[in-house]
Amino acid sequence: MRKNIVAGNWKMNCSLPEGKKLASEVIHMVQDEVQNNAQIILIPPFIHLTGIHSLIGSSSNIFLGAQNCHQESNGAFTGEVSAAMLVSCGASHVILGHSERREYFHETDELLASKVKFALDNGLTPIFCCGEKLEVREAGNHENLVRSQVDEALFGLSEEEIQKVVIAYEPVWAIGTGKTASAEQAQEMHAFIRNQIASKYSQGVAEEISILYGGSVKPENAREIFSQADVDGGLIGGASLKSRDFTNIVKAFD
Ligand code: PGA
Repeated sequence: MRKNIVAGNWKMNCSLPEGKKLASEVIHMVQDEVQNNAQIILIPPFIHLTGIHSLIGSSSNIFLGAQNCHQESNGAFTGEVSAAMLVSCGASHVILGHSERREYFHETDELLASKVKFALDNGLTPIFCCGEKLEVREAGNHENLVRSQVDEALFGLSEEEIQKVVIAYEPVWAIGTGKTASAEQAQEMHAFIRNQIASKYSQGVAEEISILYGGSVKPENAREIFSQADVDGGLIGGASLKSRDFTNIVKAFD
């Protein structure tokens, strides 16, 4: 059964003390205030994983994620981090294919297919990101683009494997811009992705997969976006750096 999920992608923000303060505040607010059973995933920079993991402790609804991992198990890859290393630091999830990785680090869907497989083989839940740039939407090619991203990076997986993946639809034009996709635009693309999975695998498989929306989600718009039939939560950037805003986004599921 698909789960409701709110994941906070801190990107390259927060020193360790700042990150610990932010995580502690979120953990306490969530414990005190949240009435729903959404999964919450905190996704700090790699070097904060262990420190944040010890703060999360044995909380049953708060998980730890990383922002990327390498596609090999170990070796001479200076500056890289493997999936097994993330697991050893307490991570259960990893973002793969964020648009910033695609844009600035030239990650392709072919590469992402191997990262997704490797993450799964190591017991991590990939949060696979897809989404179009503004010019692609304006040209009316957004569905074709997202179809090819999902197809190339995910459709080599077995039925059992793909059910463990979380997908995040993040229109690039909405990330960090304050410009959110309308609830209808989000629903339309989420339904499109779910139908694509249903045609490739089955309706049953498609119903197991959580599809998150990302791009300028705020406490003010979260409830409307999350109430769409095929939107199962959000991948939150800027607003995840403010404990009050992030908790209020989680409370949109109350
Ligand atoms: P944003 O970022 O919420 O700041 O738009 C979303 C993301 O990049 O995951």
